[in-house]
Formats: sequence, C-alpha cells, structure tokens
Amino acid sequence: MPRRELVQKILALKAERGAVILAHNYQPPEIQDVADRLGDSLDLSRFSAAAAERVIVFCGVHFMAETAAILAPEKTVILPEPAAGCPMADMMSAEGLADLKAKHPGAVVVTYVNSTAEVKAGTDVCCTSANAVEVVRSIPEGRSIIFGPDKYLGGWVKKRTGRRMIVWNGWCPTHQKIYPEQIEQLRKIFLDAVVMVHPEVNPAVTELADVVLGTGGMIRYVRESAATTFIVATEIGMVYRLKKEFPDRQFVAASKHALCPNMKKISLEKVVSALERLEPVITVPQEVAGRARAAIQRMIEIG
Ligand code: 13P
Ligand code: SF4
Repeated sequence: MPRRELVQKILALKAERGAVILAHNYQPPEIQDVADRLGDSLDLSRFSAAAAERVIVFCGVHFMAETAAILAPEKTVILPEPAAGCPMADMMSAEGLADLKAKHPGAVVVTYVNSTAEVKAGTDVCCTSANAVEVVRSIPEGRSIIFGPDKYLGGWVKKRTGRRMIVWNGWCPTHQKIYPEQIEQLRKIFLDAVVMVHPEVNPAVTELADVVLGTGGMIRYVRESAATTFIVATEIGMVYRLKKEFPDRQFVAASKHALCPNMKKISLEKVVSALERLEPVITVPQEVAGRARAAIQRMIEIG
C-alpha cells in the first residue's frame, strides 16, 4: 500500500480507537511524521502517564513501552513490533542484580530506564541519560551506589560526580559504532560545529564532545544555541528529528552505522495492524509494576 494511504488509514483508525501515537527520537522518519508526540525516554514516560487517550501506540523499544505500561496501568499500551528489544537492557538480569546487592549490602541501586521491568523492581531509583547526574547527586554522600546496565553512562556519571559506584558491565551496541576518529575527521570539515554526544558512547568519544546530552537535551541545547552546525554522535534517527525541529540548521551524523536495528523494526504497516487488532499489548505483572513504578517515580520527583 502506498505511504499516503497507510498514513490516512492510521489517522482514521487512531480516531476510531481513541489512540495516541508516541514515538522515540530514533524512530524511522515515516513514524516520526505520523506520531502525535516525539520525545526521549523520560518525555515518553511522562506523556504516557498524562495522556487523555486510553490507547497508547508506543513506537520505540520494549523497555520504553513497558515503562509506559508501568506508569499508566489503566491504559492499553501497544508496541507495534514486540520483538523490538534493547540488547543493553537484556544485558542485566534481576537475578544478577540481586547477587550484586547481596555482595554490597547498603548500596543504593540506580538503574538506567533502559532496563527490564524486573530489574526496575529491584531498583531504588531509576534515571535516564537526561537526569543520571542529578539522580546520583541526590544520594547521600558516603552511600555506595550500584549502577546499571550501561557502563559508559555509569562511567561518565562517576567522573562527573566523583561518587563511589559499582557499575554493571552493559553497553549499547549501536553507540559503540561511533569512533573518535570520525569526530576528529568531521571537526576538520565543519570547523565551527558543536559536537553533541550521547553518554552511551565510548569514553574516547565523550572526551571529544562539546556537550554530552541525552536526545531530549540535544533538542533543548540546539534551541538555546547560536551555532548553525552540529555533529550528532548518537543513533542516526536523531538527525532526522533535529532537522525536522530546526530546518534552518545543519546536522551531521557522526556515524551512519550507528543505527539501532530494533528502533527500525517499527513500520507504518505494523502501526496499522496494531491499531486494527489493538495488539500486541505490553503488560507488567502488578507486583513487579508496583515496585518498578516506585523507582521511576522517585526519579521523576528528583528531576
Ligand atoms: P534518550 O533517553 O536520550 O532518548 O536515550 C534512549 C536510548 O535508548 C539511547 O540509546
Ligand atoms: Fe537500546 Fe542502544 Fe537501541 Fe537505545 S540505541 S534502544 S540503548 S540498543
């Protein structure tokens, strides 16, 4: 079916079902264009909880839809492709976290939202890349901190805060496809460009950054900045998102290979099917959701 017809079908079904379409900043262009709201992980959690609609079509990856289901248990949260996972989230298990907690009794557990609901349920406070530093700073000095799953975000926060942190050995395969040489090369071409880097990248890349920000932070930064050219060191979908928001500025991807295959599993056809069938619904068992919600809410209260 041609793209225009698919979009029309989505708009008609969305009205019929009383649904809202949320999409992460890394989603394919055609999904970004059909979405009602675009955002980073934190924005999308908040939109899910605040949405007036009863049905949320969540265009992102599994842990994000799960977070929406945790925050809005009375709503129907649909992930158009249930196999859209996050390898980093899957690197940390609830059992592994429990073992680490047993080795470090008294440590406060801070977990990145890129984690499963079960891991969040064993967490004291969640964080996103937008608020990880603030969350860690909110923990009383002298308490040690278990941080996971991302060792690069964890390492960056550790450096910024000087706190004692036991960091899980997880990472994002997509962000590891950005190399320092690429930034150095692009800086030689775009002399006045601002280099914006996501904290999931390797520290060798973070060191070359002008600013280290989550995807929502990048949008806010560009809005406030007088610069006209930006080198974007994160997943490639972010370049489309930034161009859409700021058509008069120039955005250059640090690496065309930094593509999250899971984010790209969502298609217009799958959104049509999700709205037609109201499936696949993402649910979280009540007991797990209750504990995970408390950890997410503590984060929201901090930042
Ligand atoms: P943001 O919260 O910055 O949007 O990042 C989410 C993510 O999955 C990064 O890889
Ligand atoms: Fe997970 Fe990395 Fe994809 Fe983000 S970009 S969803 S961390 S695999």
